[in-house]
Amino acid sequence: MIARQKIDFHKRFVLEFVRELFLLKLVKGKYQHKFKTRFSQFVGLRHCSLVSSGRAAFCLILRVLNLKKHDEIILSSFNTPIVMNVIEKYGIKPVFVDSSEDNYNINPDLIEEKISSKTKAILVTHIEGYPCDMDSICSIAKKYNLQVIEDCAHAIGSRYKGRQVGTFGATSFFSFGISKHINTVKGGAVLTNDKEINNKINKLLNNLKSESIFSVSHKFIKYVIVSLLTNDIMYYLFVNPLIRLFRLFGFDILYYLFEDKGDNHQDKIKVLSNFQSFMGLYQLNKFDFSFKKIRNNVNNYKKYLSTSVKFQTSKYHAHPSYLNFTIRLKNRDYVIKKLMSNGIDIQKTWMHSLNCLNYSKKLSNEVLYLPIHSSIIKKDIVKISTLINKFKS
Ligand SMILES: Cc1ncc(COP(=O)(O)O)c(C=O)c1O
Repeated sequence: MIARQKIDFHKRFVLEFVRELFLLKLVKGKYQHKFKTRFSQFVGLRHCSLVSSGRAAFCLILRVLNLKKHDEIILSSFNTPIVMNVIEKYGIKPVFVDSSEDNYNINPDLIEEKISSKTKAILVTHIEGYPCDMDSICSIAKKYNLQVIEDCAHAIGSRYKGRQVGTFGATSFFSFGISKHINTVKGGAVLTNDKEINNKINKLLNNLKSESIFSVSHKFIKYVIVSLLTNDIMYYLFVNPLIRLFRLFGFDILYYLFEDKGDNHQDKIKVLSNFQSFMGLYQLNKFDFSFKKIRNNVNNYKKYLSTSVKFQTSKYHAHPSYLNFTIRLKNRDYVIKKLMSNGIDIQKTWMHSLNCLNYSKKLSNEVLYLPIHSSIIKKDIVKISTLINKFKS
């Protein structure tokens, strides 16, 4: 039985939670400063602010860059509805650009024709950790005097031509959501080298409420439950049978339960708590080790999948961090069913075609994620690849 996703359980988090609970340090404490400093060093930018989610970080950016009602922001059509909902919440108009065929990211050749006198910024999303073509995007932004905002929610540790993503635009934001490279259950960061932007963000943050002990505890409990349910034994006994049962009715229960469109805007902007900062710092310190395993899994897929299977690639020197390893199949839904009947649980992409542009629509219908988490071993990859080679059309 192979699970689509695994949330690693760290005993250290339980011990730290109990310690901070007794010392009344769950909300505020030394780890906030430590994680902030380490994360900004890791990305290579001077200023970092830790907040309650990636979308909260993006809200802050829109506010400090002074984007107003009726301004326009250019973004990739193959994207998450979460960012579109944030943009629309501020009355800003999203202007969609189709994707590139190789890396699924915004196609720089199609950006200029979408620029108008109202365009203020380009939102650049490094999909699944694959870096966008930043040279082309930055030169367009310079020519038209536009701000570049980098959405690095998928891209902690990704590099474009040797340089970390997140360092190209005026500001960038990251997500520490439950399925991200660094998981603080919910969380995010805004990074910049611009002192003025940083001062404005700090001013906004000073007026915000902190998380409550109750909400930090709630997140910790959620972490324990999800990590236990994705543990190999629990997955085998409970989760997989449930997925199979719902699949009989053509329903992917996990996809349905965890799909996040960001449309109920309950997610208030808050400062990331001390306990969550501890979780972030712990995983950041192990990042290179975890990433080595992911890269090894990806290389094995590339070795065992038939050469006719298409996956994300790049024309330039890219070092993706692979939030997910994606492939494209015309008969995706049929292959997902076939793999499930062989004990392998894989899922279609979370990304959507936000306004049905040609290529992004194709991607939303064809992309699926192959498991690369910490329980996956070479034998699993050979099995998955063999079945995909057999059933793909
Ligand atoms: C591309 C992208 N941007 C932004 C976000 C928002 O991040 P968060 O869920 O931390 O608010 C997500 C969430 O998954 C995402 O996939």
